[in-house]
Parts: sequence; C-alpha cells; structure tokens
Amino acid sequence: MGKDVIVACDFASAEKTYGFLDLFTERKPFVKIGMELFYAEGPQIVKEIKKRGHKIFLDLKLHDIPNTVKKSMSVLSNLDVDITNLHAGGTVRMMEAALEGLTRDDGTRPLLIAVTQLTSTDQETMENDLLVREPIDKVVMHYAENAKKAGLDGVVCSPLEAQKVHDACGKDFLTITPGVRFADGDTGDQKRVMTPAEAKKIGSDYIVVGRPITAAEDPVAAYNRCVAEFVD
Ligand code: C5P
Repeated sequence: MGKDVIVACDFASAEKTYGFLDLFTERKPFVKIGMELFYAEGPQIVKEIKKRGHKIFLDLKLHDIPNTVKKSMSVLSNLDVDITNLHAGGTVRMMEAALEGLTRDDGTRPLLIAVTQLTSTDQETMENDLLVREPIDKVVMHYAENAKKAGLDGVVCSPLEAQKVHDACGKDFLTITPGVRFADGDTGDQKRVMTPAEAKKIGSDYIVVGRPITAAEDPVAAYNRCVAEFVD
C-alpha cells in the first residue's frame, strides 16, 4: 500500500456514515473507523464498509494483557481490516502477542500500528499522572523504537514527528499522521497542524483527515483536494 489519505469517519451511526460514503461515486476513500462508531454499530459496520469497496483502518487502540490482546487481534484480523492499532504503552511483549494474533494461517495480516503518547497527554500530565519523568519527545521516540523492535509496521504520530521517526526507525517504518488542515481552513481543536502538501514533503505515509472533509460543504471536493496535494 502506498501513500494515501485516510478519512476519519467520526460519525455516531451507520446511517450517517453510509450517507457520507454514498457521496463518493468515483475514488473510494480509505476509511478510519474509531471506537465511537464501532461500539455503536459493531463488527457489521466494518463488513459493510469493506463490501462497499473501501480499505479500513480500525482505530480501537488495544491495551490489555498480552494474551487478551492476541486473541482480540485474531478476531479483528478475521474482519479483514487493512490497518489496526494498539497502545505502545502496553509493552513490547503485548505488541509481539498482538502481531501473533493478527497473523492469519496463510501468513498474511493487516498492518499493525502503535499509538505512542496520545497528543492529549502533555509533559505535565505525563509526570504528574503517570510518574514518567523523561522529556515527552524522548518517550515518544522510545515507544516508536519499541514498536519497531516488536515487529510492528509503524506509529501514529504528529506530522511534525514523522521525520524523526523515519530517522530513528527507518524509512519503511510507517508514519500515520492526523492533525492535517488546509492552508485556508479552520484548525479547530488541533494545535499542531500541517497541510497535506507539507505532510507529503516531510514524508508522512498516510494522513488521517476528519473534519476538513467530513464537515466540508463539498466533502468529495475536499477529499479530492487532499489526494491532489498528498498523493498525486
Ligand atoms: O477532524 P480531525 O481531522 O481533527 O480528525 C483527526 C482524527 O485523527 C480523529 O479521528 C482523531 O481522533 C484522530 N487523532 C488525532 N490526534 C491523535 C490521534 C488520533 O487527531 N494524536
């Protein structure tokens, strides 16, 4: 799979999601399904969107004991998603177990991506709530290196970190980057943003774009603009 734009379908129901996806009659976007939609609609929503011809990034961020994560990943693998993820904070052993669970009998598997520190966690909360005293940049890079060591395919990171992750973990280690906004668009609650063109320049492999597409007056035009800037 090459560079692509992943549309974050942060909708609360299947009905709203299908209404949105029905707009795309030509190129079928790579779709991110998150916890809200998955917990509302269950595995059926994954099967249906797959049947409609979309690739799927199932963003459920697993974090539990290795055995539980392994078994859960095996279930997600049977759903035939293209990318799924977990928290690198679950340890190298949990990530290795996840990969085992994800790998099908024929050796194929979805790509597995790690979340490092959530962007909602800053230095202060990391120190006060988690008692992690290292600088947050170092923690993020350490988690990325752990994910690489466990055999994962990449990490979710800010576009501003993509270059550093590639330098430390190799250029084939994937970077999936949210926080993308058009140069003339609203940044909303995203603090550190980049345009699709900038994300391409610094070497992001996939950009995850939500509201600049889902809340646009013309979502198909906004999606096509992302593809033109990032992929073409
Ligand atoms: O609407 P917007 O483009 O901000 O959506 C970005 C998507 O990426 C959302 O689904 C959000 O949960 C996700 N995300 C993020 N920042 C992270 C990790 C995930 O914005 N650090």
